[in-house]
Amino acid sequence: MGSEEEDDPRKQHLSTNFKRKLLHLLIFTNLVTIIIFIAHTFSLSSNNGILYHRDSVSQLLQELNSTQSQLFASYSLIADLNNKINSTNLLVQALLVELARQHEASLPVEKEVDMFGILPDSLSDELKLSVLPHKLPLGYSPRSASDEIYPPIGAACLRFQHELSRYMTYDIGGECPVDDVFAQKLMLKGCEPLPRRRCHPKSPVGYVEPTPFPESLWSTPSDSSIIWDPYTCKSYKCLIDRKKLPGMYDCKDCFDLQGREKSRWLHDRGLNYGIEQVLQTKPAGSIRIGLDIGGGSGTFAARMRERNITIITSSMNLDGPFNSFIASRGLIPMHVSISQRLPFFENTLDIVHSMHVLSNWIPDGILELTLYDIFRVLRPGGLFWLDHFFCQGTQLNQTYAPMFDRIGFKRVRWNTGKKVDRGVEKNEWYFSALLEKPMT
Ligand SMILES: *[C@@H]1O[C@H](CO)[C@@H](O)[C@H](O)[C@H]1NC(C)=O
Ligand SMILES: *[C@@H]1O[C@H](CO)[C@@H](O)[C@H](O)[C@H]1NC(C)=O
Ligand SMILES: *[C@@H]1O[C@H](CO)[C@@H](O)[C@H](O)[C@H]1NC(C)=O
Ligand SMILES: *[C@@H]1O[C@H](CO)[C@@H](O)[C@H](O)[C@H]1NC(C)=O
Repeated sequence: MGSEEEDDPRKQHLSTNFKRKLLHLLIFTNLVTIIIFIAHTFSLSSNNGILYHRDSVSQLLQELNSTQSQLFASYSLIADLNNKINSTNLLVQALLVELARQHEASLPVEKEVDMFGILPDSLSDELKLSVLPHKLPLGYSPRSASDEIYPPIGAACLRFQHELSRYMTYDIGGECPVDDVFAQKLMLKGCEPLPRRRCHPKSPVGYVEPTPFPESLWSTPSDSSIIWDPYTCKSYKCLIDRKKLPGMYDCKDCFDLQGREKSRWLHDRGLNYGIEQVLQTKPAGSIRIGLDIGGGSGTFAARMRERNITIITSSMNLDGPFNSFIASRGLIPMHVSISQRLPFFENTLDIVHSMHVLSNWIPDGILELTLYDIFRVLRPGGLFWLDHFFCQGTQLNQTYAPMFDRIGFKRVRWNTGKKVDRGVEKNEWYFSALLEKPMT
């Protein structure tokens, strides 16, 4: 904010400078006009001096005639000059715009600083280490075309300076604060990735080795395998029993591996597609690697793993140790929100699945970017299995169906179903879709 005050007068100064130059230019060109005009008038009056002969009226008329034509000539000359002044004006204006642009372009660092309303001086030392550029010890690198490197953090982080400072306050080399909930809130506001820290996360006391694979896929891990501080529940039993309690929890029943999780994706009916049926749409064995976005406790990846398909499961830890739980099953968790660009190269994944996470709570702009990103990472012929997308009836045909078509996916399957548990009059809908990235 302080930087804005600093910047404004400079811009003002710049533009007054240009205005002054413009004014000089105008005065100059106008002077030229006047001089030319006066020169003509002079030549007219000197001609007039010859007129005081009494004998020749016709000569007088002639002189008058020539004066008249000279007058017309000077009029057109003036018009001409006016034209030139006008076009000079336009040129000066264009130059001013261009110069202003160049001036801005020549100050990229200051501009970035302005954009976030933050000055390096206000950063704590730990934050500087984590955010500001570092010189490459071996000098200029053609790979990055630079001799320095900026550690990446989410652009939105710098909008939350107080939270960021709090996050970066800890004992260097010691134990990190248990601030998972706070840190995750920052991530969900767009501070993603978070800056790195020089501290050790709190470690569980009495940690036991994980259950061996493949039993781990369907086993509840030991309570001593994680830190419970960030969660309302303090044991896996509590998480499993949560399904019986009233209240809203994310993925309320998905820690109970003997309950509904056990039968997910095994049958194919309506909005519920079966894994077998989906895989059968492609040549046997051609679906090998993929991603489950917002995959809860990891059951989709577990079912795929049983078919020798490797799925990475992205998940947040919303009042539950989802990432730890997925990992304890012997599956790969990834702690990223749906706002972040997927860390995969283009045209690489065979399948992307997502259930309940993508829905109308996401702003249209972010959803469209997410869908394009999914399209990007899928290989040609790769599948996007959208499982239970929730929305209003009016949005279904007006917003979402056209959006999915616009991205460029080919529809393999498309099912809609009205959600009636909160009342038919609510006009709430789900749709499930199997979409394919075109081959060419
Ligand atoms: C005045 O000059 C025009 C050409 O400039 C000519 O056509 C016209 O005949 C002249 N008139 C007289 C009265 O000389
Ligand atoms: C030049 O600009 C002035 C005012 O901007 C306008 O009145 C005039 O018509 C213009 N002249 C020409 C030849 O475009
Ligand atoms: C998975 O791979 C293992 C080892 O290659 C093989 O024995 C097993 O039959 C495969 N399972 C399926 C469902 O293809
Ligand atoms: C959407 O459009 C289809 C026809 O294209 C129609 O059958 C369906 O009822 C519409 N759905 C909603 C929720 O309006």
